[in-house]
Amino acid sequence: MNLVSIEDVKSGMILARDVINDLGIIFMSAGSEINSASIASLKKLDIDFVYVEEADQAAAPSVDEHITMEQAYTRLMNLYKSIYANVGLGKSLNLDQLKRETLPLFKKITEDNNVLNSLRRVGVHDSYSYIHSVNVAILAMIIGKWLNLKTHIQEDLAIAGFLHDIGKTNIPLDILDKPGELTVSEFEKIKEHPIHGYRILQISTGVTNEIMEAVKHHHERIDGSGYPDGLRDREISLYAKILAVADVFDAITANKSYRSKISVYAAARVLKTESFNKLEPKVTEVFLKNISRFYVGNKVKLNTGEIGEVILLNKTDVTRPLIKIGEMYFDLSTNYKLEIVDVVG
Ligand SMILES: [Fe+2]
Repeated sequence: MNLVSIEDVKSGMILARDVINDLGIIFMSAGSEINSASIASLKKLDIDFVYVEEADQAAAPSVDEHITMEQAYTRLMNLYKSIYANVGLGKSLNLDQLKRETLPLFKKITEDNNVLNSLRRVGVHDSYSYIHSVNVAILAMIIGKWLNLKTHIQEDLAIAGFLHDIGKTNIPLDILDKPGELTVSEFEKIKEHPIHGYRILQISTGVTNEIMEAVKHHHERIDGSGYPDGLRDREISLYAKILAVADVFDAITANKSYRSKISVYAAARVLKTESFNKLEPKVTEVFLKNISRFYVGNKVKLNTGEIGEVILLNKTDVTRPLIKIGEMYFDLSTNYKLEIVDVVG
């Protein structure tokens, strides 16, 4: 970590510590990538120095620079579809090849400032499991980035996220696609998918133990209530804990029992309450802080119907930021009558 004068800060550098103003409000979170707009804002706030991460020397995989985010996403989804079909036919996976094909695309998507908006939601004709796998891979990789994990770990997280539910190829379709509620025995069958996934990876090439364990344990919970092994806190790897947060968050935003379109703030609140004692707090905290950061400057719709602008995040609760409506400022961390219900731009 280096302390750098604001005059020497360059676009692309990664903040190593939060930039906090006198009121204790986070202006920029550790892990954020600095760009020309944020440099200008930091200067406006009279910030003279910031802590930045030392540059990562790892070679970046190349990708056709003209490919759009949409194309990168579609390519990943199609790749997942063919992998899923092939694994279903009993073919083994070659992770070295999979990495070569997917990592440049994941990198392209996660390096975009708009990454959260690029996560595709389930449409009428889409298959949730394909979209979910691509989303979990993207989220897991970006959480790795926000936790300042090494590049190769971020890449492993993308691959583990991509393949986390690959074991569902071994679950009968009538259970997997059952529209109504599952019976206890059907649910027991579904709960076998992490073990199936682990076994599929065991016979694949280029797999690391970390990826295999992460796939096997992405449904474990730190209070021991998860499956398949009922592991607790320290018995669960960081990889698996990251996959769990990515998996739960994407399920919340896609879950029809909540809303068809749930704002990131509403999702963050659900994640926060439902994850208590279940998900790794350090991972959840970094995740929530960073996903909220994406919305500083964005327009949001409030429960009153008014449109406001997110001005600053609040350190104590990132889901309740400082909002400007017209010429008035409202601190949602103290004003509980106001709720953000949607992000509108
Ligand atoms: Fe799963």
